[in-house]
Amino acid sequence: MNIPTLSTDRIVLRAFREDDTPALAKLHSDAELVRYLGSGRPEPSLGKAWDYIALHTGHWALKGCGKWALADAKTDELIGRVGYIDCPYEWPGLELGWVVARELWGKGYASEAAVLALDWGFRTLGRDEIISIIHPDNTRSARVAERLGERLVRSWTTPSDVTLGIYAITRDEWHAARRPRS
Ligand SMILES: CC(C)(COP(=O)(O)OP(=O)(O)OC[C@H]1O[C@@H](n2cnc3c(N)ncnc32)[C@H](O)[C@@H]1OP(=O)(O)O)[C@@H](O)C(=O)NCCC(=O)NCCS
Repeated sequence: MNIPTLSTDRIVLRAFREDDTPALAKLHSDAELVRYLGSGRPEPSLGKAWDYIALHTGHWALKGCGKWALADAKTDELIGRVGYIDCPYEWPGLELGWVVARELWGKGYASEAAVLALDWGFRTLGRDEIISIIHPDNTRSARVAERLGERLVRSWTTPSDVTLGIYAITRDEWHAARRPRS
């Protein structure tokens, strides 16, 4: 299985490693950060962080896409996670998601990482639409989606009965927005 590495001057999207576990557990222990993710409860457990890495490494093997570790380009320190969920069951589409350590919010890291991931996705996965699933109160995340060119297109009620917004962009819209204007 080949998990690609994508980078800019300040960030790297790379495969998770087992030694990312403590930093990932620290990320997931931040109550403000996890507020709109999964159960919404902080999860500081090393075992649960290891489970997350194992699950999402397996996702790459099954689907040819998945979550990357988002790392600082200079230090290789884990500063977030970005990437895809493409579950064929009880999931509304090919989803791109983003999480950045709180001390780095407001510096453009999430949008920079999402641009790399979205561009890779449209060039590699052969899908017409990529979505992001965002809680209506998660305005920071909605702003990332809109900066990418995603639009709120519909809502989706999860199996646990939470209604979320689906933001989406098509491959044609993505490539048209990035084409140099003459
Ligand atoms: C959602 C989340 C990733 C957004 O992080 P963020 O820092 O607000 O988003 P970005 O990294 O794109 O940064 C954008 C902000 O940085 C500013 N910025 C500063 N330097 C910048 C640069 N070089 N490039 C782009 N933006 C820059 C932008 O003006 C923007 O400011 P604004 O928030 O006042 O509009 C973050 O809040 C998070 O991790 N939340 C918890 C997890 C979560 O909810 N994830 C989404 C699940 S749907």
